[in-house]
Amino acid sequence: MYKIIVDCDPGHDDIMALLTILAHDEAFKLLGICTVAGNNTLEKVTRNMLQVEEYLGIDIPVYMGMDKPLVKEAVPQPAGHGESGMDGPVLPQPEMKAQAQTAVKFYKEVLNQEDKVTIIALAPLTNLAVLLNEAPELKDKIAQIVLMGGAINGGNINKYAEFNIWHDPEAAKIVFDSGIRMIMAPLEVCYAGGIMIKEAERFKDRGKVSKLVDDLFSFYLRYAIERGWDKTAIFDLMPVVYLLKPEIFKGQEGKVDIILDGEDTQGQTIFEQGDGQHLVLLDTDREECMRIFFEAIDKLDERYV
Ligand code: RIB
Ligand code: CA
Repeated sequence: MYKIIVDCDPGHDDIMALLTILAHDEAFKLLGICTVAGNNTLEKVTRNMLQVEEYLGIDIPVYMGMDKPLVKEAVPQPAGHGESGMDGPVLPQPEMKAQAQTAVKFYKEVLNQEDKVTIIALAPLTNLAVLLNEAPELKDKIAQIVLMGGAINGGNINKYAEFNIWHDPEAAKIVFDSGIRMIMAPLEVCYAGGIMIKEAERFKDRGKVSKLVDDLFSFYLRYAIERGWDKTAIFDLMPVVYLLKPEIFKGQEGKVDIILDGEDTQGQTIFEQGDGQHLVLLDTDREECMRIFFEAIDKLDERYV
């Protein structure tokens, strides 16, 4: 069983990844959820997470992390996720609160007590960079960081970079250079493992969790539908599916370098195959990825009624 901490900026696909984790409590021991400024402000992404917990009636501790990147200013992305950071579902303001302890303090406390912790990073890497700057010795307690981020052939925020890395390239460089085992799910594998637009119909008129997913897709798929695509990525789902079924992924070992500047290149991930502590996932079995996702939501429909 993996002991995991999820670092995220919910976000439609962050929530779909978290739902898949919740469905697999035989595989994951979820120690806590950390939020960070990314897709939208720290306040909004944290509120989104708490709204979903309240909707499900669960109480996993949520720790608020950094509200801006190390060097740059935060740049919310309403085009991708809406003004709320999670447009689509209409959920009440949450009564639940985030923990008083910050994300970085939480990481320090957990890693002082536990070892072999896997971090699933679905957002800019700011929290982890601050942790490694403040307590570099704790990196030995981290088994691996499995992250959604980076791009090999072309970006989604500038010509070459993917959003999570671009938003805080200085943080990404610190984390990628730390010596921790990193398993990177770049844009390419996320598109390879994506959902057919017509497959999303399956979430209509089912259970409570399917209703949430359907509401998320009502906004999330708009970008793809407007462009006439028949398929799109559920980006943050890929690290979770990888941990559940690594054998359906193809990847290459090597080293990833992060470019810090340049209009077209800030946040670019340069991959060099060979010896190194990074595994870059490049391809996967789409149908199997979706089977895992659909079964997870079906299971949660039975659990949360
Ligand atoms: O580039 C995709 C990433 O940015 C995902 O983590 C998604 O949630 C978005 O915010
Ligand atoms: Ca995300």
